[in-house]
Amino acid sequence: MPPSPKDSPPLVPLVIVGCGGHGRVVRDIAEAMGRFELIAVADDKFDEMKRMEDGVWQCPVGIVPRVLRMYPGSRLVVAIGGNPVRRAIVERLALPEACYARIVHPGAHVSPRAAVAPGAVVMPGAVVNAGARIGAHAIVNSGAVAEHDATIGAYAHLSPNAAVAGGVEVGEGAHLGIGCAVIPAVAIGEWSVLGAGAAAVCDIPPRVVAVGVPAKARRVLE
Ligand SMILES: CC(C)(COP(=O)(O)OP(=O)(O)OC[C@H]1O[C@@H](n2cnc3c(N)ncnc32)[C@H](O)[C@@H]1OP(=O)(O)O)[C@@H](O)C(=O)NCCC(=O)NCCS
Repeated sequence: MPPSPKDSPPLVPLVIVGCGGHGRVVRDIAEAMGRFELIAVADDKFDEMKRMEDGVWQCPVGIVPRVLRMYPGSRLVVAIGGNPVRRAIVERLALPEACYARIVHPGAHVSPRAAVAPGAVVMPGAVVNAGARIGAHAIVNSGAVAEHDATIGAYAHLSPNAAVAGGVEVGEGAHLGIGCAVIPAVAIGEWSVLGAGAAAVCDIPPRVVAVGVPAKARRVLE
């Protein structure tokens, strides 16, 4: 007998921090998951808490902890595309890890032998294969691939169609541009940026911008 709606688990109230382009994509994904009910969108461009026509609250980021207390069992996700800004917001909120939702599109493949940390977002068409680990608040964008045993650090971002091969280590906050590729077992240093279309064939040091095929560090980041 098919399950009746009364057998479905109750929807989890969700707060999305950030209402830019990335925030709107995350909202679509949360909707597609069918597990969440959006209760609030937070952004520093709002200076007061206000209920919109669709029943969703708009509020400044500073009152997110209060909104979470208003809705028992609620979760949040920081949906801001810039890795350093995303980290700054998470640190400012200083909420326990358990408050964060994992946002995984139903059209992504995530191996049952992979791990996705709270606050991470996995978009449609992405693949996270066996043994891969996606860190807290990381983004695996549309069509990106984290092959077996790859480690994607907290706050890192695999842009659309970026692919990292087996055993690759992507450091905290690193940003891999659209369509770039990383061959097996290479390490991308923390907070480094790999340009769109680059191919990393050897380790990339921390805090550099590297571009090209093969990727070479072009400048150092502050
Ligand atoms: C690599 C990147 C970060 C460099 O940005 P930047 O520091 O502002 O660099 P500039 O645009 O000033 O370009 C500096 C030089 O690098 C070259 N360059 C920039 N991006 C490049 C790339 N992806 N591949 C090869 N060369 C690149 C430029 O042609 C320029 O060369 P020149 O000095 O010989 O004229 C950026 O171009 C990029 O590729 N970002 C990825 C963005 C992305 O994929 N976002 C996805 C969001 S979902």
